[in-house]
Amino acid sequence: MKFRVRGGKALRGEANISGAKNAATKMMIASLLTDEECVLNNFPKIGDIEITEELLSVFGSDIIHEGDSLRIRTEKIENFQALTLSRRNRIPILAFGPLLARVGRVEVPFLGGDKIGARPVNLHIEALQKLGARIEVRDHTYYAEALEGLHGAEIHLSFPSVGATENTLLAAVLASGKTIITGAAVEPEIMELIKMLQKMGAIIEMGVDRKIFIEGVKKLHGVTHEVITDRNEVVSFACLAAATNGDIFAKGARQDTLINFLNAFRRVGGEYEVKEEGIRFFRAKELIGTEIMTAPHPGFMTDWQQPFVALLTQAKGRSVMHETIYEDRFHYADDLIAMGAKIEIKTECPKGEECHYSGKGFRHVAVIEGPTNLIAVETTVRDLRSGMVNLIAALIAEGESVISGVEEIDRGYAEIDGRLRVLGAEIVREK
Ligand code: EPU
Repeated sequence: MKFRVRGGKALRGEANISGAKNAATKMMIASLLTDEECVLNNFPKIGDIEITEELLSVFGSDIIHEGDSLRIRTEKIENFQALTLSRRNRIPILAFGPLLARVGRVEVPFLGGDKIGARPVNLHIEALQKLGARIEVRDHTYYAEALEGLHGAEIHLSFPSVGATENTLLAAVLASGKTIITGAAVEPEIMELIKMLQKMGAIIEMGVDRKIFIEGVKKLHGVTHEVITDRNEVVSFACLAAATNGDIFAKGARQDTLINFLNAFRRVGGEYEVKEEGIRFFRAKELIGTEIMTAPHPGFMTDWQQPFVALLTQAKGRSVMHETIYEDRFHYADDLIAMGAKIEIKTECPKGEECHYSGKGFRHVAVIEGPTNLIAVETTVRDLRSGMVNLIAALIAEGESVISGVEEIDRGYAEIDGRLRVLGAEIVREK
């Protein structure tokens, strides 16, 4: 599918922010921990949900969509193997804990997701092994077994991996005994998963300095939980507002999940107004270049750098985006360069900001000179967040751009074209 976009207009109005992809998919997996019904409200209608639904259906879940709610009940695990799935994301490996707790065995295909670096799963595997799982990496699948159930353990994550933290949580809540995770990721979506698990009957305590303590329980029960709004969507709309010199109210945006983004946004010349129901974003003055380094939460998130770089093409002077979470997340810069942006991708960290990629030759630093008048071109979406860059750039550029492969954008942004039209964008979806 394609988007035909006529850019160069200031976007104004209200955008409803959907439930977060990176919370909703994990909550679906958490529902496997109980044989009772789980109801997830504010549920996003995105491609990644369909992929996760397919996985759950293989395991035996009954799933019903009701308005913006999802009802899931997995009374019985009917199948512990999901050997092939029609599409892939990062979620299947998170099913280890629930399936091992309920039937002692699980086999899932290798993970998919965006090609933004090697994305190994060593931390997931090591954590599960410490909790007592026997794991085999087969030809195209991971197989895990714990016929006697899992037991508590001390787990240190050498990097605060979002997925490995979630995996350990989902496995430890029904394991016998106590688990301590040190070096845990503490993203707001993980806090929401913890809140949901607590409501289901889990005992989870937050310590200082990235420590999480879990006391295993015998059984978890059903729950009704609301999916937190998507802060990645908020950032995309905020960047669009400033880049097009418009004014967008992101309904459902939550300041507490965006603290470090809001500072960067203000430094570059954007401004915002926090209201009860969301946050209004606009441009306060001429946009000026800035330097940003991505980091695990509470830092500036890696999923925000792409729309922000699109915005930085409109800022005066030199900007630097130092990506420290993924080693290969700047392919999209080629699309911006084709539209006239001045971007150089470097391997050396900025002075005084050495990161774990320092000296390894990874192209992980973008230097942007602006402002540039972007020109409309034809592009093909490379992955979810780069797709948003293609879209923002097309909305900035005068003239007609064509973006192919927009199914990738649909994986994470629900009905994005419709929501952009509400803001005055000229965008048409074509087969
Ligand atoms: N890592 C390892 N070993 C592991 C796990 C991770 O080396 O076992 C490395 C990764 O290779 C990466 C870094 O640690 O370089 C961070 O990975 P993390 O595990 O934190 O990420 P994830 O769980 O795979 C989630 C989101 C990503 C988001 C990251 C970071 C989901 C489904 N995905 O990925 O979202 O960028 O956390 O916040 O929750 C997106 O939505 O576009 C997206 C890529």
